[in-house]
Amino acid sequence: MNQSQEDNMLRCLTLTAERDEQKRENIRRYSGFIDCVEIRLDLCESKTPETVRSLIAAADCPVVLSCRRKRDTAAGAPDPGAEILPDNPADEKQRLAILAEVLQPGISFVDLEADADSPDLLRKAEALNVRIIRSVHDFQGVPSDLAGLVKNLAAQGAIPKIACFPRSSGEALDLYRSCRKVEDVREKIVLGMGPFGFFTRVAPWLCGSMLTFISAGDRKGAPGHIGPRELEEVYGLSGHGCETRIFGIIGNPVMHTLSPRLHNPWFSSGGMNAVYVPFQVDDLAQFFRMAEEIGVLGFSVTVPHKQGIIDMVDEISDDVRDIGACNTVVRREKGWFGSNTDLAGFLDPLEDVLEAERIDRALVIGAGGAARTVVYALKRRGLEITVVNRSPERARALAESAGTGWFASKTLPSLMEFELVVQTTSAGMEPDIEADPLPDFIFQGTEIVYDIIYAPEKTRFLQRAEAAGCRIIGGSRMLRAQAELQFEQFRNSYNLWAE
Ligand code: ATR
Repeated sequence: MNQSQEDNMLRCLTLTAERDEQKRENIRRYSGFIDCVEIRLDLCESKTPETVRSLIAAADCPVVLSCRRKRDTAAGAPDPGAEILPDNPADEKQRLAILAEVLQPGISFVDLEADADSPDLLRKAEALNVRIIRSVHDFQGVPSDLAGLVKNLAAQGAIPKIACFPRSSGEALDLYRSCRKVEDVREKIVLGMGPFGFFTRVAPWLCGSMLTFISAGDRKGAPGHIGPRELEEVYGLSGHGCETRIFGIIGNPVMHTLSPRLHNPWFSSGGMNAVYVPFQVDDLAQFFRMAEEIGVLGFSVTVPHKQGIIDMVDEISDDVRDIGACNTVVRREKGWFGSNTDLAGFLDPLEDVLEAERIDRALVIGAGGAARTVVYALKRRGLEITVVNRSPERARALAESAGTGWFASKTLPSLMEFELVVQTTSAGMEPDIEADPLPDFIFQGTEIVYDIIYAPEKTRFLQRAEAAGCRIIGGSRMLRAQAELQFEQFRNSYNLWAE
C-alpha cells in the first residue's frame, strides 16, 4: 500500500460473507470496484492473526480492521428510545484483546469505538504505524452535536467516523448541515444509514466523507449498503466528487426505484459530471431546504409527492395545472419549475394504435394521482372514459372533476365494452404480485390492456388479459418514455448551470 492508494480510498468493501474463504474470494472478485477493504473481525469465522493475514494478502489495497460490538450493528441496535445497555465487561475486555492481538503489518487503519478504551491496542497501533479511526454508531437518529463529536475525535489525532441513522428528511438535513460545519476536518467518515441517509452512501463527498462502505452478496454490513458493482455501474462513484452535479428522485418509499439505472448511464454517456440519487422524503419543505443547500439541479417526483410538490415549486407547466400532478422538477434561473412527463410517457406506447385503430371507449381502473394523468391524457385524445375504483368516493371525485362516467369496482356492469383498459392502481405491484385490482372483470379478448406497473413486467391482471386473447402493454415502456423526457430537462438544467 502506498500513499496515493491511501489518498484515494473511496469505496470500502466490508467483508460480510459468512465463510472466511468467501471473503477472500469477494476481495478478488470485486478488486476492480473497490479501493479498500474492512475486515470485520466480529463477522469472521476464525478471529486469529492467521485469518487476518490471509485476508490482508488477498487485498491489494488499504485494509481497515474493526470488531463491532453487537449494539453497534443493525442486528443488535436497540429500538429507538430504548436504553443502551453497557457491554458485558468480560466480553468487552476479550473483544479489545483480540483486536490488539490480530493487529499486524499490512493493516492501514484500526477502528476503535469512541467510548472504548484500549491502551494496548493504541500502543501497538502506534508501533505499527496504523492510523486510528474513532467511531460512533447511532441507530437512533443523528447525534445532536455531530459537529462537536467530529471535532473532538479529530483533536485526539484520530479519524472521526460517525455512522448515524436519519429517520426523516429533517434529520437528513441536520446530518448534511452538521457536516458542513466541520468541512475543515478533511479526514473523516460520516455516513447516513437507512433510506433517509442513502444519498450519503452514493455521494459521500456531500458530507465530506473520505469513504463509503459497500458489501457483496445478501449479507449487508449496515442498512443502506449496496453492492460494489451497483455503486460503480449505477452510481459511477469513482468518477465523481465535489464538482459532480446532483439530480435525483424523491418519494416515500423510494429505494425500489429503477430510475437511477436509467438516468445515471444517460448522464455518463452524455459526458456530464452528474449523479442521480434516490432521496427518501417525508417532508417536502425540509427536502427543498436541503436541495437548495446541496445545489440539486433537478429531480423526479414519485408517490406520494406528485400533488404536494405543486405548492412547493415557483412555476408549473400548463399540464401540471390541468392534471394536478407533477413528476419533474428542475432548477431554472427564476426558481424551481414543475412539469409532467407522465402524460406524454403514458401515451407513447399507445400512439401507434391510437393512430391506426378506432378506439373510442376506455376503462380506467383507479382514481389516484396516476389515474388523473391517464384520464387527462385519454380525454385529450377524445376518448370516452369510465373510471372504476375500489372506493366509490374517489371514483366519483375524479369523474366529476374530469367529466367522465364512474363506477365502484363492485358495481361495474359486466355488459359494458371497452376497446382500451388501463390499470393505474398499485394492486399487483411487487411485492404483492398476486393482487388483482378488478378480479371480477371478464375480458372479451378484443381489448388493448395497458398496466402502468413495471415491476413485475407482466402483472397478474395482464396475464389474465393475455390469456383471454387481449393485446397487452406493460409499464416499462411508459417508465422509459417519461424518463427520456425528464432527462431532456435535466440536461438543459445541467447546461444552464454549467458555468
Ligand atoms: P397513485 O398516485 O399511484 O395513483 P394513490 O393516489 O395513492 O397513488 O392511488 C392509489 C390507487 O390505487 C387508488 O385508486 C386506490 O384505490 P382506493 O381509492 O380505493 O384506495 C387503488 N388501490 C390501491 N390498492 C388497491 C387494491 N389492492 N385493489 C384495488 N385498488 C387499489
